[in-house]
Amino acid sequence: MTKAAFASIVLAAGKGTRMKSRLPKVLHAIAGRSMLGHVLSCLKTAGAMETVLVTAPDHEDVRAEALNHVPALRSAVQVRQLGTADAVKAARAEIASREAPVIVLYGDTPLLRSETIERVVAGTDNGTDIVVLGFDAADPTGYGRLLTDADGHIEAIREELEASPSERAVTLCNSGVIAFRSAALLDLLDDIGNDNAKGEYYLTDVIEIARSKGLASSVVECSEDEVMGVNSRAQLAQAEALMQHRLRLKVMAEGATLVSPETVYLSADTAIAEDVTIEPHVFIGPGVSIARDAVIRAFSHLEGAAVGERASIGPYARLRPGASLSEGCRVGNFVEIKNTRIEAGAKVNHLAYIGDARVGQGANVGAGTITCNYDGAAKHFTDIGDGAFVGSNSSLVAPVTIGPGAYVGSGSVITKDVDAGALAVTRSKQSQIDGWAARKKRAQSENASNNRGNKTAAGG
Ligand code: UD1
Ligand code: CA
Repeated sequence: MTKAAFASIVLAAGKGTRMKSRLPKVLHAIAGRSMLGHVLSCLKTAGAMETVLVTAPDHEDVRAEALNHVPALRSAVQVRQLGTADAVKAARAEIASREAPVIVLYGDTPLLRSETIERVVAGTDNGTDIVVLGFDAADPTGYGRLLTDADGHIEAIREELEASPSERAVTLCNSGVIAFRSAALLDLLDDIGNDNAKGEYYLTDVIEIARSKGLASSVVECSEDEVMGVNSRAQLAQAEALMQHRLRLKVMAEGATLVSPETVYLSADTAIAEDVTIEPHVFIGPGVSIARDAVIRAFSHLEGAAVGERASIGPYARLRPGASLSEGCRVGNFVEIKNTRIEAGAKVNHLAYIGDARVGQGANVGAGTITCNYDGAAKHFTDIGDGAFVGSNSSLVAPVTIGPGAYVGSGSVITKDVDAGALAVTRSKQSQIDGWAARKKRAQSENASNNRGNKTAAGG
């Protein structure tokens, strides 16, 4: 199927007061991506050719986030929140094409899928002027009801406060997603008034106005979950749970084994190749890719990291942004890696911090090794050469280079470069005192018996 070219208008000027947050509602994240980001990337996947975002006047941060996802985005400011029709009117002039379909949706419905957007837009193909995405609500309270005729055309959308008791019994509801066969049809919005219970300009009134002009509206349905709007923190958590479920199913369908899927947290952009195994209780933040046959063991935390083929991570490993692990390398328990390339077959197996560094091919970094990358002002680089061996509990004070094949003796504090193949040790030499333990014990027991004697004398 060739995708229809269409424009889109995303409404996000609402206050979102129930979130009790200084952050605008649509910037709250689900699976590591803002709700607005989900809606915009979905539009991109569906093939939207132009997108206009409607925000409140003071929402620069909302516009900035939107531009991260759609560089060609245009925005319109709705000065006062006078209703959904008013919001669309604020955006109308920014739509370049009068002929192509235009879809209106909300910035706070992060679970909407691109396939559904495509279905709604495609609904305008066969001469239908307006297509509304509807759903059958378990509890329709608060939603606009879709009132349909015998042919399945929509006669009107009735908002909760205007609905009669029999209309309130209708469970087919308006999701808020509405497509118009052409942007020219948005001129119908000029006829919408605000003589209603809320004193708002309801976009939903456009259906009756269109019908009075002989234009046809129809409904496309989707599941209630998909058009769930997020208005509170509890709903944010609910949307997160639904999204996590969806992402887990997706990575498993693509060939990953999740031993205990409900304990693994993924991000919207997580890329996992075939035959990757993820053990229980793993958190994967934004920007992570995991190549074939890698194993992520229990209780690991990853963000902004690339894991190579056959690599083994964890248990209890932390990969921070810029960690780039090549094939077959091993990062073990209680190891933190940041902004570091670990080359093929290298090992950092226990209790280490490696930041702003390169660990060469086949190198071995011992337990307790720390790259001292920060001097309180700036970050510095550590280079550990191919095949180098860093003994346990060493501090590598950056900037510093450990040459290929070099050894660092355990417990060293390395402040100067180590040449290829050399051994560097900085700890003081071990000395030995023969028979010291026995002499110490004898002295202790003599002390003790003297003390007892003193006590007896004092008590007598
Ligand atoms: C709206 C629909 C209702 C539908 C419901 C689905 C109308 C009149 N009603 O009701 O039929 O069942 O959504 O959730 O359209 N917004 C602006 N500017 C405004 C007002 C709203 O940008 O002046 C944005 C909000 O940020 C939000 C969206 O539009 O993203 C919906 O607004 P909201 O006030 O939540 O509409 P509802 O009353 O829930
Ligand atoms: Ca709402």
